[in-house]
Amino acid sequence: MITLTDVTRRFGSGSGQRVAVDRLSMTIAPGEVLGLLGPNGAGKTTTISMIVGLLRPSDGRITINVPGVAGELDPFDASAKSHLGIATQSVSLYDELSGKENLRLFGSLFSLSRSTLAARVEECLRLVGLTDRADDRVAAYSGGMKRRLNVAAALVHDPAIVLLDEPTAGVDPHSRHALFEIVRHLKSQGKTVIYSTHYMEEAQQLCDRVAIIDHGKLLALGPVDDLIRKHGGSSIVRIQRVNADAPDVTVTDDPLEALRRALSESERANVKSAAVQSPDLQAVFLTLTGRELRD
Ligand SMILES: Nc1ncnc2c1ncn2[C@@H]1O[C@H](COP(=O)(O)OP(=O)(O)O)[C@@H](O)[C@H]1O
Ligand SMILES: [Mg+2]
Repeated sequence: MITLTDVTRRFGSGSGQRVAVDRLSMTIAPGEVLGLLGPNGAGKTTTISMIVGLLRPSDGRITINVPGVAGELDPFDASAKSHLGIATQSVSLYDELSGKENLRLFGSLFSLSRSTLAARVEECLRLVGLTDRADDRVAAYSGGMKRRLNVAAALVHDPAIVLLDEPTAGVDPHSRHALFEIVRHLKSQGKTVIYSTHYMEEAQQLCDRVAIIDHGKLLALGPVDDLIRKHGGSSIVRIQRVNADAPDVTVTDDPLEALRRALSESERANVKSAAVQSPDLQAVFLTLTGRELRD
């Protein structure tokens, strides 16, 4: 459905040049929820911006295939726009307009009939749980409500491909849960979803496959279970030392040895707690980068 081939994006020039996305290649299948997982600055937003045609790659190529549309589309083709819906990382809504007026405005950018637009606006408001606040000004919405409306604005024209750039950043648990349900609903409708996050648990819970990105490079791509099997090691040992802010995390095939070392006669007094856990995406990231992915 979407193919990235050696996509690179550089910003700036000379010694100030920065490679935000570095020879990224991957294929996103129709109907899948693909997670882009990486820390701040990994290149998630830059990648998404290139897929939706907001930013041109410096090198490489992106093609989009939409069911029922002959040939490959370039994200910059005008005809690609109606198949792509994006909820940007920074909420882009009109504060002075109501929720409903915002959706009407975003929907009016596409050539929908008046009745289709009205029906889509209602449906999207319902999907994000804002029907009873539809006529309130967005300025009066909570952060989580704005996030949900921002996602609804990406869906009004019923695109086949939906890109959500850190949709849960800083939202309350209720809105976070609602956003999860929205992604599941989109998947059940056969939409292709690209979901960027720096939260492991979200990628783990929501995504069919996860692309782990760091410094603009794709480090690993696959279903969560495969990534864990391949890169997660057999156990994680977490040692919290008395004077440390964060625990020491080790990915190991020999958790007993790691515990024995941590709890040896000379070390024991410094240890507040020790735990052995089964591997998760965090262990995968640690193995691949040598660093922890923290919030
Ligand atoms: N318009 C820009 N000009 C210069 N540098 C940029 C620009 N946009 C992003 N970058 C840089 O590119 C890198 C990747 O950024 P971004 O794609 O926003 O990462 P993420 O979304 O994963 O946090 C960062 O180092 C960022 O500072
Ligand atoms: Mg970003």
